[in-house]
Amino acid sequence: LRDAQMRWALAGPVESGPDDGPGRRAVVMTMGALHDGHLELVRRARAEAGSSGQVVVTIFVNPLQFGAGEDLDTYPRDLDGDVAKLAGVGADVVFAPTPDVVYPDGDPVVRVSAGRIGEVLEGESRPGHLDGVLTVVLKLMHLVRPDVALFGEKDAQQLLAVRRMVRDLEVPVEVVGVPTVRETDGLALSSRNAYLSDDERERALALSRALRAGAAAADRGAPGVINDAREVLDGADGVVVDYLALVDPLTVAPVADDFSGPALLLVAARVGSTRLIDNQAVEVL
Ligand code: PAJ
Repeated sequence: LRDAQMRWALAGPVESGPDDGPGRRAVVMTMGALHDGHLELVRRARAEAGSSGQVVVTIFVNPLQFGAGEDLDTYPRDLDGDVAKLAGVGADVVFAPTPDVVYPDGDPVVRVSAGRIGEVLEGESRPGHLDGVLTVVLKLMHLVRPDVALFGEKDAQQLLAVRRMVRDLEVPVEVVGVPTVRETDGLALSSRNAYLSDDERERALALSRALRAGAAAADRGAPGVINDAREVLDGADGVVVDYLALVDPLTVAPVADDFSGPALLLVAARVGSTRLIDNQAVEVL
């Protein structure tokens, strides 16, 4: 912790640039094994920071957000590869601490709670996960002291929980959401895609296909959206659905059958032993 604080003391305040106004400090928090989805966040961070600002990328596989039996130990790690990729997209600083740097006193006694946001969907399948995410996000915000923090819409519930934490706890950071980056065939980029065999990767396309089918049924209301998405998932071999839900994008509460307006269609499913999530905004008519 002290090292990180020292680094900022030495870096000093961000100075004004001649071309694009006062620079800002932007942060992109990641768990590494970087792919083009992460790199898109960094490119966007560069634009948010301005040429005279600072783009900080954190790489930390946060033990606090993994449950027992999850993939903490096997989560893909490639720090050298990550740093090489970051050099090409405008990152200024990579902060890749080990757990004993982030948690010098062991597991933190005081933590952030995601409240009811952390109890549904991802929270139901992964109890405590979003609390662990928010705790490390707030901690990294205090270490990095960014003006702006960027998060992917790929992890929609996480983005929502971070936005809510920033509002509820008056965290002086602007949160920017970045649209999900996909392969040309629709698969959302994810570090966990590395676990998939060729066959499983093919099956995994059912998630994005289901979301598109659901969105295409928006004119038949919420039940139509859920029904058509469900049909695609039911017809997919080797895809075990954890949840499929159409929710209010601000509260994550499921929408009523007669709902119309902006909603979020979310899916989580297991393909082989790999758990994947995806989501899509739907304007329900
Ligand atoms: P990680 O899964 O590494 O993701 C880091 C950031 O990249 C998150 O904001 C995530 O939403 C974004 N991201 C991942 N795949 C994306 C895609 N295909 N398109 C756009 N953005 C994408 O999310 C985490 O790490 C952790 O929970 C973290 C926030 C770092 C806290 O530990």
